[in-house]
Amino acid sequence: MTYAAVLHRLYHSPSPLTLVASPPPLSPPPPPTTTPRSRCSCSKGVEMAAVKAIRVHELGGPEVMRWEQVEVGEPKDGEIRIKNTAIGVNFIDVYFREGVYSAPLPFVPGMEAVGVVTAVGPGLTGRKVGDVVAYAGTPMGSYAQEQIIPASVAVPLPPSIDHNTAAAILLKGMTAHVLLRRVVKVQSGDWVLVHAAAGGVGSLLCQWANALGATVIGTVSNEEKAAQAAQDGCQHVIIYTKEDVVTRVKEFTAGKGVNVVYDSVGKDTYKASVECLATRGMLVSFGQSSGKPDPIPLSDLAAKSLFLTRPSMLHYTATREELLESAGEVFANVGSGVLRIRVNHTYPLSQAARAHADLQDRKTSGSILLIPDDS
Ligand SMILES: NC(=O)c1ccc[n+]([C@@H]2O[C@H](COP(=O)([O-])OP(=O)(O)OC[C@H]3O[C@@H](n4cnc5c(N)ncnc54)[C@H](OP(=O)(O)O)[C@@H]3O)[C@@H](O)[C@H]2O)c1
Repeated sequence: MTYAAVLHRLYHSPSPLTLVASPPPLSPPPPPTTTPRSRCSCSKGVEMAAVKAIRVHELGGPEVMRWEQVEVGEPKDGEIRIKNTAIGVNFIDVYFREGVYSAPLPFVPGMEAVGVVTAVGPGLTGRKVGDVVAYAGTPMGSYAQEQIIPASVAVPLPPSIDHNTAAAILLKGMTAHVLLRRVVKVQSGDWVLVHAAAGGVGSLLCQWANALGATVIGTVSNEEKAAQAAQDGCQHVIIYTKEDVVTRVKEFTAGKGVNVVYDSVGKDTYKASVECLATRGMLVSFGQSSGKPDPIPLSDLAAKSLFLTRPSMLHYTATREELLESAGEVFANVGSGVLRIRVNHTYPLSQAARAHADLQDRKTSGSILLIPDDS
């Protein structure tokens, strides 16, 4: 379905769309600027707005994230300035903070937010002050009260999707879309193994794969997460702290193995992932929350004619058309009840360090949000 068709359906559906879970109440768009912003003169004499943001000056643990004033200029050609109302936390934010992926220091982390447009660059059409937009991916810098982004990465929000839901789902949901519909086309009857099945991306992968007719096996660390994974469409859940993943997968599949493994854990899991695959199966290695997996010898793939891919959502949503298609599919699936959003953890933006510590300590499940505060 095209994005235009999806939006048309969401805006003009004659009967309310059925939701599996009660959707959060629609929140009216907040006024364009309410954060008190001081102004300062930068070296070239240009007036810059000062807002607060989390900034990383040195690589390290959660404690390196400082809550401080940063300058936000005026949007240039093709850009918009947005006042963030809800910010999504993603594991990739940890990778940048630790230096697994590199960015010039100092930097403001964060790759996902919903916000209200507060200024548009000269000559830009199609965007106006007061519009509500979401973005996921580059540029980094969403852990801020306000930020500037290219208008081309901004996605309009259907009125049926509230700010928190959109910030909780856009990056993770587009990742699930890309992994299930573009990297591999999961079909009814497929067997799929999802590691970290109760996590942000994992929860959506399981729900969506189940809706596509796949039989989903999820791995999680504890009973509470196992219950969530089962609610999210896992027909089988393996608590990997108590059970051997390969043995259980072989039992469930009568020795055949699964068609696809979605592995975001990396170092700790990739060997078992390869063993869990059926002949001609596909290992989709899309993350490394436990560390970089060791190199896999090509000969390891030969025994079962396996496929291996290491995709990034950004490469599959690089054009405006691809971005809108992915976002549209995600919003449509929220609207139709295929995807239920678990916003299990919300922190004030100023306390982003706490959110990162909890994420890395495996204390979280579902999505994590930061809400901008004025502290
Ligand atoms: N390639 C892409 O384009 C793309 C896009 C988005 C996300 N990702 C990747 O997808 C993964 C999930 O991201 P997310 O933001 O949704 O995070 P998440 O899955 O909510 O959080 C990570 C979960 O991974 C599990 N885990 C296993 N070993 C871990 C370890 N050593 N340290 C920390 N967690 C560990 C934990 O679940 P248990 O307690 O059940 O073990 C933990 O709750 C990340 O690896 C991320 O980089 C990739």
